[in-house]
Amino acid sequence: MKVLITGGAGFIGSHFVEYVLAKYPQAEIVNVDFLTYAAHPDTVERLSVLGGNRYHFYKMDICDPNIKNIFKKHAIEAVVHFAAESHVDRSILDPQAFVRTNIQGTQNLLQVARACGNPRFVHVSTDEVYGSLNPSDPTFTEQTPLDPNSPYAASKASSDLLVIASQRTYQQDLVITRCTNNYGPYQFPEKLLPLVIANALEDKPVPVYGDGMQVRDWIHVVDHCRGIDAVLRKGKAGEVYNISAQSEVPNLVLVKKLLALLGKPESLITFVGDRPAHDRRYGLNPQKIKSELSWNPQVTLDDGLKQTVQWYQVNRSWWEKVRNKDYFKYYQENYQPKTATSSEVQL
Ligand code: NAD
Ligand code: DAU
Repeated sequence: MKVLITGGAGFIGSHFVEYVLAKYPQAEIVNVDFLTYAAHPDTVERLSVLGGNRYHFYKMDICDPNIKNIFKKHAIEAVVHFAAESHVDRSILDPQAFVRTNIQGTQNLLQVARACGNPRFVHVSTDEVYGSLNPSDPTFTEQTPLDPNSPYAASKASSDLLVIASQRTYQQDLVITRCTNNYGPYQFPEKLLPLVIANALEDKPVPVYGDGMQVRDWIHVVDHCRGIDAVLRKGKAGEVYNISAQSEVPNLVLVKKLLALLGKPESLITFVGDRPAHDRRYGLNPQKIKSELSWNPQVTLDDGLKQTVQWYQVNRSWWEKVRNKDYFKYYQENYQPKTATSSEVQL
C-alpha cells in the first residue's frame, strides 16, 4: 500500500513512519512535512536512511493545493494526517498559525483527497476537543460533545467537524482518531515530559503550572501508532475512535516520578503561573477501539517512563540541538508560512 503521511517529521508522525516501515515490508511511504520548528533537523535524514527506496520525502505546506501532484505521482491509496501546530502554549500566543495549518490545511487535504480517488484518510485528532473533566466525571466517550478551551483545541475540533462534514456530504472514506497525551523518544522539548527531563538533566528549574494537580492521561507513542494502524486498516468510515491507555496522573506526581528516575532532587520543582483556561483533567474511554478493532495498549506507564528517561539521557545531543537560541533565531528569521500556491516542490 502507498501511504501518504503528513507531519511525518514530527514526534508522532516520525514514529508512525518507522512503525509502518518495520511492520509492512511492502508498504511505501510518502512523507509530506513543511519542516517547521517542531521537525527536528535530523529526522528527515534518519527516516530516509531507514526507508530507502520505500520512502519519499517532500517539504511542503499542507495548505498548498499543489499537494495533489504528489497524490497523483505516487498513486496514493491511504492518508494518515498528523501535520499540525500542536503546542497549546503557542496557540495562546499565536492562534493564527493554528487556524491556518490545523483548519485550512486539513480542509485543503480533504479536497485534494476527494479529487484524487478518495483514498482512506485517517485524521489524527486529540482528546482536547472534548474540553475538561471534573475529578469525579466519567471519562470522555466518542459521543461526548466537543467543548474545546484553548485555541489549539478549538482548531482541532474545527478540523474534526470539517472531516465529519466531508464524510457525510461527499461519502469520503474518512476516520478520526482522538488520543490522549503521548510520550516517548523524539518529542520536541517544549512538551511537559521532555522539558522536565532536559531541564532536570541540566539542573535547571522544572516549571509546574498552577498547583500541578491537573490530570493528564498518558500513552506511549508506539501504542498510539498501533491504534492508528488498527483504525487505518479496520476502522469504519465516518467513525471516531478514542485511543487511551487509561493512565491518568496529576502533573505533579508525574514530574516527581521523572525526577526520581533521573536521580534529581524535588527541589528543582518551581511552581509558576497557570496556563490560561488550563484544562483540569483529561480522561478518555477506549472501549470502542478495544472491542471493535481489538486494539490494546502494550506499554505500562512505569516501563514507558523508564525507557523514555533513558532515551533522553543517552540522546542528549538530540535535544540539546533544538534547545539553543540559534535554533529558534533561525525559525524566527526564516520560517514564514508561504502563500497557498508557492510550492517549492519539483515533480
Ligand atoms: P509535532 O508538533 O511534533 O509535529 C507536527 C509536524 O507537523 C511537524 O513535523 C511539523 O513540521 C509539521 N507541520 C506543521 N505545520 C505544517 C504544515 N503547514 N504543512 C506541513 N507540515 C506541517 O506534533 P505531534 O505531537 O507529533 O502531533 C501530531 C498530531 O497528533 C497532531 O495532529 C496532534 O494534534 C495530534 N495529537 C498529538 C498528541 C500529543 O500528545 N503530542 C496527542 C493526541 C493527538
Ligand atoms: O491531550 C493530548 C494533547 O496533549 C495533544 O493534543 C497536544 O498536541 C499535546 O501538546 C498535549 O497537550 P498538553 O497541553 O496536555 O501537553 P503539555 O506537554 O503542553 O502539558 C502537559 C501538562 O503539563 C499540562 O497540564 C500543562 C502542564 N505543564 C506543561 C509545561 C510545558 C506544566 O506544568 N509545565 C510546563 O512547563
